[in-house]
Amino acid sequence: MRNNACDALRRATEKYRATAPLAAEKAMLPYRGGSGWTPSPFDGDSWWTGGFWPGLMWQLWAASKDDWFRDEALRAEALLTAQFRRFEKLNHDVGFMYLLSCGAHWKLLGDEQARVDALHAANLLLGRFNPKGFIRAWNEPERVGYAIIDCMMNLSLLFWATDMTGDPRFAHAARVHADTTLKHFLRPDGSVSHIVEFDPYTGARVREHAGQGYALGTAWSRGQAWGVYGFALAHENTGDARYLEAAERVAGFFIAHIRPDGLTDCDFLQPAAPQRIDNIAGACAASGLIELHQITGRGEYRAAAEALLDGLIDRSSDWSEQTCGLLTKCTASYHDDAAGVHTNIVYGDYFFIEALTKLCGSDPMLWRR
Ligand code: GLY
Repeated sequence: MRNNACDALRRATEKYRATAPLAAEKAMLPYRGGSGWTPSPFDGDSWWTGGFWPGLMWQLWAASKDDWFRDEALRAEALLTAQFRRFEKLNHDVGFMYLLSCGAHWKLLGDEQARVDALHAANLLLGRFNPKGFIRAWNEPERVGYAIIDCMMNLSLLFWATDMTGDPRFAHAARVHADTTLKHFLRPDGSVSHIVEFDPYTGARVREHAGQGYALGTAWSRGQAWGVYGFALAHENTGDARYLEAAERVAGFFIAHIRPDGLTDCDFLQPAAPQRIDNIAGACAASGLIELHQITGRGEYRAAAEALLDGLIDRSSDWSEQTCGLLTKCTASYHDDAAGVHTNIVYGDYFFIEALTKLCGSDPMLWRR
């Protein structure tokens, strides 16, 4: 597998060397690939996916040491820090946005302004903490009590901020949120819910909501991937064995649903038709499973990650340098075609390349301090 992965990383780097300048020429942050790059159809550069482009550039820079990628990461970072002024558009996903941009810049080059900007983002995330036990996901007044599984990935920004400042408030909030997720999202079969609503005054669990998967109570595959990777990171950030146990339970559920071709259903409980594939889930899970393998030494996690990556490399990648974007058959949401169905989406490429860099030894591990 290592050879397949490293060859894929080399080819991905070549493809991006040829096509990423098209985004720079248009002075934009890509959301989708295709015949050219397309920006997010929602909220411009404030959309939650904005950090994946600079994150990709940092991954490619770490793998190739081609300074063009570094400069492109810095161009994208400036677009994102400008979004601090659009505060009301930002949400709990400031972790995704600013860890992979400013956080990476600080980690890889020690840039002082990037450190300050990442701390600014951490304070925005801390400001979303409801002391009744959860980090508020979104901004609409009717969703004041909503928390989502995706947020497990954003907690790393808080743990990092405590390290940076010596102020434990950030890590306290992250642990409280992780404990709430453990208690209220993890199901007996090892799957995780996507959205849980809490009473914002008492913290009582109100109900689960359907999200980007097929229906209420089903198993949205990307949510499962966030659970695997997010709980693994919470364990790495705290040493708490309960989070590792949770990551392993969700991993067991995910692995049991890996298709023979290595592609990933958008929802593990979706009907036969219409069939929706979401390779972002497979790429993200692969990276999380490699992490779990590094923590536990258990070969089954590495084998599952390799099965997913082999499927993506051999059956669902567009290697042409005439088109933009690498991973095909990415689906943002089972029912929302406007967000992208069976297309290339930037965070699919991010997690795909991150997983490859883990296998090839250049991953700067942007999620961990
Ligand atoms: N965090 C939103 C998503 O995974 O689509």
